[in-house]
Amino acid sequence: MDRRDILGYLGDDWIRTGDMIRSSLDSDIELLNWTNAYILSHGGKQLRPLLALLMARACGGGPLPEDSIRYAAAVELLHNATLLHDDVADGSMIRRGSPTVASMLDPEHSVLVGDYWLVKAVDLVLGADRNVTVVIRLFAGTLARLAEGEMLQLQKAASADTSEEDYLRIIGDKTGSLFETACLSAAISVDASAEWKRVAVEYARNLGYAFQIKDDILDYAGGDIGKPVGVDVREGKITLPLLGALRRVDAGLQEEIRGKVRTVREHPGYASDIMDFVREHDGISYAQERLRVFSGLAKEALSPLPGSPAKDYLVALATFTEERKK
Ligand code: IPE
Ligand code: IPE
Ligand code: MG
Ligand code: MG
Repeated sequence: MDRRDILGYLGDDWIRTGDMIRSSLDSDIELLNWTNAYILSHGGKQLRPLLALLMARACGGGPLPEDSIRYAAAVELLHNATLLHDDVADGSMIRRGSPTVASMLDPEHSVLVGDYWLVKAVDLVLGADRNVTVVIRLFAGTLARLAEGEMLQLQKAASADTSEEDYLRIIGDKTGSLFETACLSAAISVDASAEWKRVAVEYARNLGYAFQIKDDILDYAGGDIGKPVGVDVREGKITLPLLGALRRVDAGLQEEIRGKVRTVREHPGYASDIMDFVREHDGISYAQERLRVFSGLAKEALSPLPGSPAKDYLVALATFTEERKK
């Protein structure tokens, strides 16, 4: 898949989305404008607004109504807000290959700018022509799930008893919820039928799982992904590659490894033991299998939609999620 093809297909709808993001952030505070410009100049993949615009096109054609553009812009603002907060929570120094706001300025700036982007996302939805209450509720539900997912992840990092079911709950809430809101608000913006709205959610839910599983694989597999690797284990987070490796050993060894995860912050040396364990027991290939299943389910979910370039690009984005290197 070539991103340029998708952007060419979306044409003016993509340009309007970028313009809306930029103009919604404008402030008379110089430090805020400077920080916003810094974040926008390292914009990341912008996957969520791409998904939103493609889903709106796949359900309604194009060019798109203003509400579709607003919701796509709002989703990307909300995504960036959560990253500005997440980097403080995780103490992350690098994102998108550059220093985080938290490390370049300080965590206080990152929290405040995150608050600003969050509220600007809400403002964009409030300015929509129709369905404001429904979509605001969607966004509020997503934020609640994001916080719940992150809190469950912290709770599980303390107890180190994460099961695969817990893991799916965590990633569905912290990552999938925003994918779902991107796709469902897009479908709502073009008055999609109840069936197509279900398609949008089903596609997004499975893509969200696939996307975060890939992120968790990249954290083990290493390489230049624009942010540090090996972070999850050092933070005591049990993700799918480790769960895959744990499945392959007896209960005694499982307990020993979980014990190391539970105490890794007091014993940083355990991190490399756990990484070696995952490598030796092929945890990554287990996670790859699950990734392919979820990506396949995302593609299948689209089948009720009529054929269109937008639908083909949604399929291509699922393939991209499997293969991405950052
Ligand atoms: C990062 O998301 C956070 C996760 C859900 C893994 P992305 O990988 O989409 O981040 P950017 O916006 O492209 O940097
Ligand atoms: C995803 O969590 C961030 C959010 C959904 C807020 P991670 O902590 O795993 O994401 P990265 O690795 O920092 O991008
Ligand atoms: Mg993080
Ligand atoms: Mg991560």
